[in-house]
Amino acid sequence: MRCVLVSLSILLSFASSAFGETVLVTGANRGIGLEFVRQYAEKGWDVIATHRRQTVPESLATLKSEYPGLIRVETMDVTDHAGVDTLAAKLEGTAIDLVVNNAGISGGGTATQQFGRLDYSTFQDVMDINVAGPLKVAESFLEHVAASDQKMIFTVTSSQGSIGSVNWPGLFYYRSSKSAVNMVMRNVATHPKVTERGILFGLIAPGATDTDFMTEVRGRIPLGDPKERVAGMIKQIENYPRDGSTPSFEWNGEEIPW
Ligand SMILES: NC(=O)c1ccc[n+]([C@@H]2O[C@H](COP(=O)([O-])OP(=O)(O)OC[C@H]3O[C@@H](n4cnc5c(N)ncnc54)[C@H](OP(=O)(O)O)[C@@H]3O)[C@@H](O)[C@H]2O)c1
Repeated sequence: MRCVLVSLSILLSFASSAFGETVLVTGANRGIGLEFVRQYAEKGWDVIATHRRQTVPESLATLKSEYPGLIRVETMDVTDHAGVDTLAAKLEGTAIDLVVNNAGISGGGTATQQFGRLDYSTFQDVMDINVAGPLKVAESFLEHVAASDQKMIFTVTSSQGSIGSVNWPGLFYYRSSKSAVNMVMRNVATHPKVTERGILFGLIAPGATDTDFMTEVRGRIPLGDPKERVAGMIKQIENYPRDGSTPSFEWNGEEIPW
């Protein structure tokens, strides 16, 4: 009897990794990206966790050992477009159900992004990472997603990108980058290559969350737990409308105005 149960469990684990869902996460070595990796691995998904470091980050090595057979760690700096293509080629033939465009930077917080003393090279870096990066990832991995069952590309945006909500000046680079990434994802969502193959482009936001990203404001504003915020975003991904409307949702389901 024990032998039958063990064989059944091996068969089930094989079936889950051979026929289960696959997610690719960018900026997966810490913060929200790392939590996406953990929660999808916990659900039994195959996870392709990407990072931009020279060596495998300890955070990912540890998580990989906690979920044997489920996490594959790959290098991808989203600003290195040739490198993005190289990983896409390496993964040719792998169906990816969900891409989570998570990698992002703030551009230095509120102190540096002030009108009158703007640093345009930082502005450019923020746009390269937060806007061109996710677009390039979507472009290079479109075929992998098209070949999957769930066919989803989600980008982590922010309420700071909501043009209709701006009522104080600041965060010039970051806000502009999140408005722009909303636009590029909405734009590409209408492309025939996307609509004709039923690929879903979505926008989700964690709200203010306690990661390194928020070091500057930690202790000054309430910050959510990454576990709770990522669980909420996964729920929004699961319930996201497939009507081509591309709304932005907070982790708790609140819609963010454009
Ligand atoms: N935390 C919040 O309150 C909050 C609120 C709204 C939206 N968001 C968004 O949530 C996403 C994740 O933020 P977080 O809070 O987890 O920030 P975080 O803790 O600072 O982590 C950012 C991640 O992005 C990676 N990254 C940066 N540039 C990259 C590049 N060129 N290529 C690949 N990876 C790169 C970082 O890698 P390294 O470790 O190598 O730097 C890191 O893994 C961002 O898009 C952010 O805008 C965060």
